[in-house]
Amino acid sequence: MDKILVTSALTYANGKLHIGHIAGSYLNADVFVRYQKLLKNDVIYIGGSDDYGTPISLKAEEEGVTPQSIVDKFNKSMRADLAGLNIRLDNFSGTSHQNHIKDSQDFFTNLNEAGYIKKRSLQQFYDASKNRFLSDRLVEGICPFCKADGARGDQCDECGKLIDAMELIDPKSKLSAETPIIKETTHWYLDLPKFENELKDWLETKTYWKDNVRNFILSWLNEGLQERAITRDLDWGVPIPLENTDGKVLYVWFDAPIGYLSSTKEFFQKIDKPEKWKDYWLDKNTKMVHFLGKDNIPFHTIIWPAMLSKQKENFVLPHNVPANEYLTLEGQKMSTSRDWTVWVEDYLQDFEGEYLRFVLAANAPETRDSDFNWKDFQLKINNDLNNVLGNLANRNFMFAKKYFDGNISRKNELSPNAKNTLTEVNDLASEIGKCYANYEVRKATKLFIDIARIGNKYFNETQPWKEIKTDSAKAEETLFICSEILRIISIVASPVIPKSMDKLRKMLGLNEEFFWQNLAKNQHNFIIDEVERLYRKIDDNEIEKQINLLEKKKR
Ligand code: 2FM
Ligand code: ZN
Repeated sequence: MDKILVTSALTYANGKLHIGHIAGSYLNADVFVRYQKLLKNDVIYIGGSDDYGTPISLKAEEEGVTPQSIVDKFNKSMRADLAGLNIRLDNFSGTSHQNHIKDSQDFFTNLNEAGYIKKRSLQQFYDASKNRFLSDRLVEGICPFCKADGARGDQCDECGKLIDAMELIDPKSKLSAETPIIKETTHWYLDLPKFENELKDWLETKTYWKDNVRNFILSWLNEGLQERAITRDLDWGVPIPLENTDGKVLYVWFDAPIGYLSSTKEFFQKIDKPEKWKDYWLDKNTKMVHFLGKDNIPFHTIIWPAMLSKQKENFVLPHNVPANEYLTLEGQKMSTSRDWTVWVEDYLQDFEGEYLRFVLAANAPETRDSDFNWKDFQLKINNDLNNVLGNLANRNFMFAKKYFDGNISRKNELSPNAKNTLTEVNDLASEIGKCYANYEVRKATKLFIDIARIGNKYFNETQPWKEIKTDSAKAEETLFICSEILRIISIVASPVIPKSMDKLRKMLGLNEEFFWQNLAKNQHNFIIDEVERLYRKIDDNEIEKQINLLEKKKR
């Protein structure tokens, strides 16, 4: 049995969840976890909100409330949205929760005592009109690498490179739009160059990582690692555990991944096993898998492993970092500041959570950016889910009810056509397992719909409506094979569309707990329970409403 610790990138608690978050790091993690559970592996799924950092303290200032109240509000809304999409983390914490401060401070202290942190005086941007130092995210300008406009002082979203704010061309304060002045201050730096060889050796062993992730890191390493400041001038963050530091806090990016650890501890405290986190974090057999969007690659593959490797405790290092690329919306880059996104909360007012899971899985931005658009959403639900999968279930069950009172048994000897059909389906089912294990949700989703297509084709070709008149045993065989195909789909599609697959299993009269190994089970009969439609069709006017709404709210 494998032991797996799965995480989704902690989401900044300054806003609600949108489809980009779901496609980037939540749905793929949830699908992976559900698959691992089907394999009976020991897996825990950990996440939470990323509660510190400048945007949150700014928002609080703007609204005249405490940062904690902002964070609590969004943490709560994230939980509700995840529940609405049936994304089930074992623990959804937040970095402003209690454990986190001590854990983060310990990380700093251990790195400092081991000689991996340096104190430096430096020049920093200061907004004279607002009387405050500007953290990297509060400065914008032209990217020194790709020359794109609107690069932030910490990172350029266009080319993905991390930036030293001082290198921005034509910097402007985001607080006032003024050109900031430069003032001297003290900060603490993580001595990344000192890790370079160790990290290179470690990354050499990660030949099985996704190409997009490996290429990203290799180009980063080839440019040579730089020292990174890990403290900030802010009053909202984890105070650094040293005397006389002038109120400096840890940079949000330093403490954020430690949130995976503190959330794990919180989880085991809640279930009264306060020491059990060690079974995951301190056991070299644990596979720690971080799901995230591509902008988070450097922190998880370079800085976080570096941080982990110099602690007093012997922490596991990431086993895999299956980062996704970006999701665009109606062909354009998503942007929360322009409100060019679909908020999960809004989506759930109008549609089933399951439908979004299906469409985002079918379009997962695994190897390159992919697009979410409403027309395609309608097409995928109406065609793939409704006309292909839903229809196979519906026609099969209706027929079984009408002619066999819902009682369908297997014949002693299946016909060659029936056998071949099942073989084809079983081959696809094992391929789907490989896809899930390999973070290829998109392909898995295509393949389980292909299985339903095979079912429909078989039903059409055997023509049970004719068979029933001449040879009812033949018609029953057709229904048995289609039910068997549906049973297989109810297992292999369940990581992506768990709710409707539970419904399908209930209709098939299968009520027991099920696992991947049940695929090979020799099912002898089905007693079709009450039949209801699995999916509904989405009308043109529902889609128009969404497209209009998008255009209307766009800023
Ligand atoms: O980019 C982001 O949204 C960050 N909040 C991700 C943090 S991931 C981890 F380190 F916690
Ligand atoms: Zn750039």
